[in-house]
Amino acid sequence: MAEPRETLLRLHALGVAYRRDGRELHAVDGVDLELRERECLGVVGESGSGKSQLLLALLGLSAPGARLSGSIRYRGEELVGAPAARLEAIRGRRIAIVFQDPLSALNPYLTIGTQLTEGARRQLRLGRRAAASRAAELLATVQIDAPTERLRCHPHELSGGMRQRVLIAMALMCEPEILLLDEPTTALDVTVQAQVLQLLRDLRERSGVASLFVTHDLGALASMADRVAVMYGGRLVELASAAALYAAPLHPYTAGLLRSLPRLDLPLPARLPSIPGQPPDLAELPAGCAFAPRCPLVHERCTRQPDLRVLPDGRANACHFTGSATQVDAAWIRA
Ligand SMILES: Nc1ncnc2c1ncn2[C@@H]1O[C@H](COP(=O)(O)OP(=O)(O)OP(=O)(O)O)[C@@H](O)[C@H]1O
Ligand SMILES: [Mg+2]
Repeated sequence: MAEPRETLLRLHALGVAYRRDGRELHAVDGVDLELRERECLGVVGESGSGKSQLLLALLGLSAPGARLSGSIRYRGEELVGAPAARLEAIRGRRIAIVFQDPLSALNPYLTIGTQLTEGARRQLRLGRRAAASRAAELLATVQIDAPTERLRCHPHELSGGMRQRVLIAMALMCEPEILLLDEPTTALDVTVQAQVLQLLRDLRERSGVASLFVTHDLGALASMADRVAVMYGGRLVELASAAALYAAPLHPYTAGLLRSLPRLDLPLPARLPSIPGQPPDLAELPAGCAFAPRCPLVHERCTRQPDLRVLPDGRANACHFTGSATQVDAAWIRA
């Protein structure tokens, strides 16, 4: 029997709100999620759905002016409202992030070596030489050749794929228990994307590090995630095991995202269907379901906000429509 896995992170009713032009905007709204030991939890959604804001909140790195509500427990310890020094101690050491944009996440004026070793020298109190040797080791782990020489390079001397690997190595420097991966493959071309995904799978296999893997690409998650959380307009709209979600999405938004992926088992159509309309402006969300204006199943009841309901099989779905996945799919075909 598989060993029960401890819960590392437990988010309850997590909210991140900002004020813009005198209005309140909920970048993350009432999110309940758990991350267990060794698990890879995918978080997917279109641009502006609150994915990065969710990750930044976990590290106490929300932008100035953000108002956090709800709860984030890391191994039982509350992080919302925790002292800055405590969050600082957890960042990098326990929970590390690979930021969304490798170029702006690296300082152009500092060498890769300085940037890689800075956190470990502070957090692990490693001396200069020990930190440099660990950095070189990790560059080798993320498959960068001539790692010792690379430590002396500046970011612009590396390719996009290498910079992404450097960021992953940097996140691993203090052996964190949780990796927050914010679109770690989006900026890369398809071949390098596949290599970085393979690298992340290997790392997980070897070290058992748990991860929250944020992307707008359900395709990238297919080979990575144990469970997938789907976000729309700052809210969680569906949560399921990856197998269940890919086989039969319940929320019309998830079904729409899946339809826009190429299928290996079917001939490639002339154009992949995309979800009509635009992601919502968070400052002007409709009163009910935020997806209603784009939904092929929209109904009068959708003017009420649907709750995220947990179903008997453990999946969760925030849609008033309680029909089958086949019916959801048929609605998209008619649309
Ligand atoms: N500092 C801020 N002040 C006000 N609103 C903000 C701020 N930072 C982010 N937001 C808003 O929060 C929302 C969610 O942003 P977030 O960066 O989390 O989206 P995302 O899902 O990561 O998108 P992408 O796929 O483009 O990275 C956006 O609508 C954005 O306008
Ligand atoms: Mg983002």
